[in-house]
Amino acid sequence: MRIAVASDHAGFDLKAAVARHLAQAGHQVTDLGTDSADVPVDYPTFGRAVGRAVAEGRAERGVGVCGTGIGIAMAANKVPGVRAAVVHDVTTASLARRHNDANVICLGGRTLGSAEAFDAVDAFFAAAFEGGHHQPRLDELAALDRLRPAGDPGAAAAAGPPAVEPPRRVGGAPRKAGAEP
Ligand code: RB5
Repeated sequence: MRIAVASDHAGFDLKAAVARHLAQAGHQVTDLGTDSADVPVDYPTFGRAVGRAVAEGRAERGVGVCGTGIGIAMAANKVPGVRAAVVHDVTTASLARRHNDANVICLGGRTLGSAEAFDAVDAFFAAAFEGGHHQPRLDELAALDRLRPAGDPGAAAAAGPPAVEPPRRVGGAPRKAGAEP
């Protein structure tokens, strides 16, 4: 798989380790920076870079790393078409794919050890989106993307007609017990 990776200075060491781990597993890894743990940089730059790589099809998936994973995920999620998830373990990594069809995984270089990060990344790339009742929720997310102003470099990736408001799917028929986690 073609995977773009990016980090700020706080995520640099873990990003480099994850990039090596993914390359050893046979993935084609493109590193979008930053290039040092010693020079402070701003995570929005790198979150946007990894988000655009995925939204524009230069990569099938992205990995973003900052101190906590939070800032770089926030930035990546500003790019239409990106579903970036901060994950902390195997469970959140797997569910990010299975329920949210996340296309960018975000990790905390200051909150995760490399062994936990490798396990989470492996779970993320092993899991598949389950579709079904999760798909309408992704459709709502895509509709939210289409509310963004035109002209964003990633906007072309958010296919479909412009929406005024996302479709409302609240309430409705009662759920069967245990039907939708
Ligand atoms: C950088 O010091 C740190 O704030 C950043 O990497 C990240 O944790 C933000 O979400």
